Amino acid sequence: SKSECLKGKRALVTAGGTQEPLDPVRYLGNRSSGRMGYAVAQALQEAGAETILVSAPTDLPAPHGVSRMSVQTALEMYDAVLANFPNMDVIVKAAAVADYRPATRAEQKIKKDGTNRTIELVPNPDILAELGRRKTSQVLIGFAAETENLLVNAQEKMHRKNVNLLVANDVTKPGAGFGSPTNIVSFLFPDGRRIDFPQMSKLEVARNLVGEIANLLGDCNKG
Ligand code: PMT
Repeated sequence: SKSECLKGKRALVTAGGTQEPLDPVRYLGNRSSGRMGYAVAQALQEAGAETILVSAPTDLPAPHGVSRMSVQTALEMYDAVLANFPNMDVIVKAAAVADYRPATRAEQKIKKDGTNRTIELVPNPDILAELGRRKTSQVLIGFAAETENLLVNAQEKMHRKNVNLLVANDVTKPGAGFGSPTNIVSFLFPDGRRIDFPQMSKLEVARNLVGEIANLLGDCNKG
């Protein structure tokens, strides 16, 4: 049975959308609810892995038995993930990380004066790409949220970020992507293999993913 397949393994999952502050009351964010990543953390925990969830702000309760570290910004997520990375067997990056942040964070609430405003943005580090560079024996899983050319863009990300498996979702499809309780995904592997799934709950996607993680770790009986 696969029920305790990942016993003794340590896993880290990121979830939610990072928030990049402009001033004490405003931020740049995205539509991630955290559901996908929380489902992955639950499925890993159910499979017996000791699981850490590095979570951007969400309304969700931490899954039972999972230890949660709360972060707000991409830089905070970067620090939390990199600090834990050397001790992990499995890392799943389901979070929607802001690629850019405001160049400055105003100390006081920005006042309106009726004129046009421009926000200068500076690039955030790519957490997954950095893990791909540092990877030794870890199983590294990325996600790709695409609005066009799903498989081509996802394949490019898989190779550039050096992951063992990439979960691609077309976030323009109804029933897939941001906020929805369900998702429609494909698993892509560096050897060119691909598995296309029909629409299913995010927890079912997560359980399928955990099955593949067990196969990649190689020390678990199938069946
Ligand atoms: O949270 P939900 O509402 O359930 O929605 C789920 C989801 C749509 C957020 C999820 O299924 C998903 O696709 N997550 C990845 C979103 C994303 O940011 O994709 P991306 O294609 O921009 O990034 C590719 C990968 O690089 C991701 O694993 C991402 O975590 C990682 N990344 C991106 C930018 C960055 N600066 N650092 C990163 O680590």
